[in-house]
Amino acid sequence: MKVILFGATGMVGQGVLRECLLDRRVETVLAIGRSSTGQHHEKLREIVRGDLLNLTPIEADLRGFDACFYCLGVSSVGMKEDLYRRLTYDLLEFLSRHVSGDWGDLCDDDRRENDLSVMEGFRILSAYRLPRTGVKLWIITEADRSATTFLLPSEY
Ligand SMILES: NC(=O)c1ccc[n+]([C@@H]2O[C@H](COP(=O)([O-])OP(=O)(O)OC[C@H]3O[C@@H](n4cnc5c(N)ncnc54)[C@H](OP(=O)(O)O)[C@@H]3O)[C@@H](O)[C@H]2O)c1
Repeated sequence: MKVILFGATGMVGQGVLRECLLDRRVETVLAIGRSSTGQHHEKLREIVRGDLLNLTPIEADLRGFDACFYCLGVSSVGMKEDLYRRLTYDLLEFLSRHVSGDWGDLCDDDRRENDLSVMEGFRILSAYRLPRTGVKLWIITEADRSATTFLLPSEY
């Protein structure tokens, strides 16, 4: 099995990396992060990038893998619950709705447009209300699928 691992330098990621390197069923591990693990192992390859929000330049390196462990994130230690929830849960929930075709707070015309865009390769747009504040968040996937962007009303 070939594995991609994000966040291999973190507490959780280090444990996942250790287990993957020990496990004979895992033949290679590609660790992707903003800093190196500092480890050397015949099964380990690393990609170190400052900007992990845009993986397009390394898209070709990501092909042919069987599994991905996404251990990148912010620890809850010392953080207020509200901010932690927003960073680690709310945004991912909206993104998972966007990729699964739940377009959120859109009118019927925009929904039909999206359904067509998925088939035809046009731009896809979703909108969701942020919990608590009620502010609308837009998620846009470009027609060439090169980028998906989160936008607040002031940025749209
Ligand atoms: N620790 C736990 O017991 C536990 C339990 C349940 C869930 N979690 C969740 O699991 C995730 C990882 O937790 P952890 O304890 O392993 O955290 P951690 O020790 O702080 O590690 C975070 C990892 O994410 C990377 N990272 C953080 N912000 C980044 C950014 N903006 N760009 C690129 N890389 C970034 C860090 O890279 P650098 O080394 O370069 O900083 C590091 O590899 C978090 O979402 C956490 O909430 C943790």
